[in-house]
Amino acid sequence: MQKLKIGILISGRGSNMHSIIRACKQPNFPVEVAVVICNRPDAKGVQIAKDEAVNIVVVDHKNFADRPAFEAEMHHHLIENGVELVCHAGFMRILTEAFVTTWLGKQINIHPSLLPSFKGMHMHERVLKAGVKITGCTVHYITLELDSGPIIAQTAVPVLSDDDVASLSGRVFEAEHQLYPHVLRMIAEKSCYLDGDIVRHKNDLVAEPSLYSPTLHTY
Ligand code: GAR
Repeated sequence: MQKLKIGILISGRGSNMHSIIRACKQPNFPVEVAVVICNRPDAKGVQIAKDEAVNIVVVDHKNFADRPAFEAEMHHHLIENGVELVCHAGFMRILTEAFVTTWLGKQINIHPSLLPSFKGMHMHERVLKAGVKITGCTVHYITLELDSGPIIAQTAVPVLSDDDVASLSGRVFEAEHQLYPHVLRMIAEKSCYLDGDIVRHKNDLVAEPSLYSPTLHTY
């Protein structure tokens, strides 16, 4: 089986990266991690990648004169490792237009809300303040506008009355860890594709749903 080669970009805890690495270790999973790139030497995810014996490179943004120089180094590692798809997993650097354009249609991100709602930072605080009853997570292609590219798949997560940020983010994290590997499988198997600004699914109501939602009781 020809596997899809991915590069994972991280900045911190690395729990989404870990879920992807675990999925890639399953037999018949059509994706392989070619390289992990982390921009913070002290990030927890660096040690996780090492423990999992995955190829990890630290590209510390502080060592570069400007953003293009930092990105050129990341690009070099992505190309050198034959990366076909760049996967952001808690990567917290704003990218230049040049880097986004170079990887357009080949760069995806996970965001812990149901986009286009609650873009940006501190989304769980804002979700709780708004009183919405459903939040979730979204995997989307990266475009020039932050958290705005074509949506590939989403998971709905209930917001409960006694939730605080910790309980809610924990529930969303669980969903993220299931959704990201699922999306990677769909992309590798070409069961979804970009059609202009929209991602279409070949089987979305049958075998490969692009939305997961909490089950409701029938009365
Ligand atoms: C995740 O919740 C991810 O969705 C979020 O950062 C966290 C990283 O956690 N990303 C964003 O907010 C991007 N806008 P992790 O390092 O444990 O995967």
